[in-house]
Amino acid sequence: MKIQVALYAAVQAGLVFSQTTNGTETPSEVPYYGLSPPVYPSPASNGSSSTQWSAAYKRAKALVAQMTLEEKTNLTRGVTGSCIGTTGSVERLGIRSLCLSDAPDGIRGQEFVSSFPAGIHVAATFDPDLMYKYGVALGEEYHAKGINVALGPVAGPLGRIARGGRNWEGLSNDPYLAGIGMGAITTGIQERGVIATAKHWLLNEQEFRRTNTDAGEAMSSNADDRTLHELYAFPFMNALRAGAGAVLCGYNRANQSYACQNSKLLNGVLKTELGFEGFVVSDWAGQHSGVASANAGLDLVMPDGGYWGDNLTQAVTNGSVSADRLDDMATRILASFHLLDQEYSYPLPSIYTNAQKHFAVDAQSFDHAELIHQIGAAGTVLVKNVNNTLPFKKPRYLAVYGYDATVKASPWDNYLRFGGGYEVNFGWSTLNGTMITGGGSGSNTPSYVIDPFMAVSQRIAQDKGTLRWDFWSENPSPAFVNAEHCLVFINAYASESFDRTSLKDAFSDNLVNNVAANCSSTIVVIHNAGIRVVDEWIDNPNVTAVIFAGLPGQETGRSIVSVLYGEINPSGRLPFTVAKAESDYGTLLNSTVSSDYFPSINFTEGVFTDYRAFDREGIEPQFAFGYGLSYTTFEYADLTASLLGTAAGASAGNSIPDSSVAIVQGGHPDLWDTLAVVTCTVSNTGALDGAEVVQLYVSIPAEDTPVRQLRGFQRVGPLAPGEGRRAVFELTRRDLSVWDVVAQQWRLPRGEFGLFVGASSRDFRVNGTITI
Ligand code: BGC
Repeated sequence: MKIQVALYAAVQAGLVFSQTTNGTETPSEVPYYGLSPPVYPSPASNGSSSTQWSAAYKRAKALVAQMTLEEKTNLTRGVTGSCIGTTGSVERLGIRSLCLSDAPDGIRGQEFVSSFPAGIHVAATFDPDLMYKYGVALGEEYHAKGINVALGPVAGPLGRIARGGRNWEGLSNDPYLAGIGMGAITTGIQERGVIATAKHWLLNEQEFRRTNTDAGEAMSSNADDRTLHELYAFPFMNALRAGAGAVLCGYNRANQSYACQNSKLLNGVLKTELGFEGFVVSDWAGQHSGVASANAGLDLVMPDGGYWGDNLTQAVTNGSVSADRLDDMATRILASFHLLDQEYSYPLPSIYTNAQKHFAVDAQSFDHAELIHQIGAAGTVLVKNVNNTLPFKKPRYLAVYGYDATVKASPWDNYLRFGGGYEVNFGWSTLNGTMITGGGSGSNTPSYVIDPFMAVSQRIAQDKGTLRWDFWSENPSPAFVNAEHCLVFINAYASESFDRTSLKDAFSDNLVNNVAANCSSTIVVIHNAGIRVVDEWIDNPNVTAVIFAGLPGQETGRSIVSVLYGEINPSGRLPFTVAKAESDYGTLLNSTVSSDYFPSINFTEGVFTDYRAFDREGIEPQFAFGYGLSYTTFEYADLTASLLGTAAGASAGNSIPDSSVAIVQGGHPDLWDTLAVVTCTVSNTGALDGAEVVQLYVSIPAEDTPVRQLRGFQRVGPLAPGEGRRAVFELTRRDLSVWDVVAQQWRLPRGEFGLFVGASSRDFRVNGTITI
């Protein structure tokens, strides 16, 4: 009987049992791939999450009550304008069009805007405060340009596969790190009055056949219910909790149903379980049906009406879509607009194509250049530094090699490569020059670039030194044998619309080895749009220092010079695992390739991606998740761990949140209660000032759970030599829970939780436990 009840609940939850199920397995043991159960009707929202949402809904509802059917459908219909997307307006009621634009790392295709570091670079800072400031700065620029809706931040792709083309747009494949970033960036953007859009919802993990083509339908990412919650929806929860006004549904299919017409994901997980009050916008041409997408919970289609427009009016007239559903769509769009108070003096869009003669509004007058420099340096990860090669001690003679040291490609290069198929150019791309961000719609258009060569030249000039360079040869000759150090700049490019075919390239690897053959202090700087393996030369004794410099944005040269010369002591950490060999990523290396008409990707690894997989398989990484060096050393001591009173309440009864408490945006409010506090001291035991990224990993006492998962981090410092400080981590109920597929809730397991505090996912300095 018990099993039958469990089975019934599991089937309701969308769990699919294989034919071989023998009735004794628990649902979490049974693989579930590829069915998206129907969840109807679409829940109409009413703003009960907060007083702000409630006030916004009051205003939105009052407007919708005055609108005709056509006016409502018009609001949900994206039109082509100067913005990447524009909503319909209702002039009679003073309802303006909303302007939606890319990118998550800066406004693309415009003048007098900044090129910020990409998401993955921001994650490498492991600094929530910088993540927040990044959001604020983006918000300031979007606001100045009159863009109502910023198309970011990104938590999907999360980074399931190492070679994913868009992993760099998001923060990290670790859902906790990505989640903290999603929350902080959303808060920052929205504090400046701009609607943030968490994207791409959900399971949008590869570019190969990401959408429908002549070959057939889009890939279906098939994930079991627990994985869906614990990995992929997890970081979106933080953005929702921070009040995100919009969510963008992806191109892919998820459990066999297109993301923009997937009632389980939109009506179910997003709007019911996570209480989302804002609007769902389709990815561009990501809508695949009219009535089905409306009923499944899509609220706004982009671009150009998709299957809606007059068809939606007709569908409501003939009852295929209810009038209430349409009211809810229009209300949600207007509620987000009002949540951000955009009706009061929000600037009109100032977005132009380059061919138009125009007056360009200045979004560059904020001092974002310095913030970009700081984030650029803070997200720079030093992984090898033999004999204290770095920081430089005023070298007088340096040699610079490699195509990545200088600007070559024009910001329009990508536009040309993509055949001009987009309204607005695709921004910065750098197959042949220094790389400051990746390619595709997540790219940005720098107003200028301080490239590494420029910045190094300036420093050498100050020191009255000599610089030699060769940017383009694979085997530079002559070797400048008197140089004290040789800097080799290489990159690893990735872009929307294709997945990577390798995590290294022969030209760059040869270049490093060729330089190192003649230079006993070769320093490699990699600008990497995701993972880059270094097996071809990492053990070369002449390679004395290696830096993962990420995607730092327009101040790239300033950031790297600050780190090389020690003005900023590196504290950046890898937001992914760097394997010894590409094959170590196993099935999570490549995108799934299929010529089926209905192709599928089965997420058979469940929650075991990246370091979770390396830990389970016992694979030694080259550089572990969370790894990064400093020019000083730190000592950890005195771990304390205490349970708060909330923990007893949370573990009472069946250890799931009280179902009588109303859901608010972000999910059950109790999930965000702090249950435990962990602290430890960190002291600078070296000779230089520096900040340390202290990480807390937790082992949750539940079956099929990763051995350790990141559940806290803090960038402590800068600390002066001898100075110590306490790092404090608050563990929320969600941080300690697992998704229970039968209860359809987060369950707090009882037992002993292991606490591991240290400098990476493989370097623990103080340990402890809590028992719940
Ligand atoms: C991308 C989105 C982007 C949109 C508008 C799509 O191709 O997937 O991330 O916001 O285009 O440019």
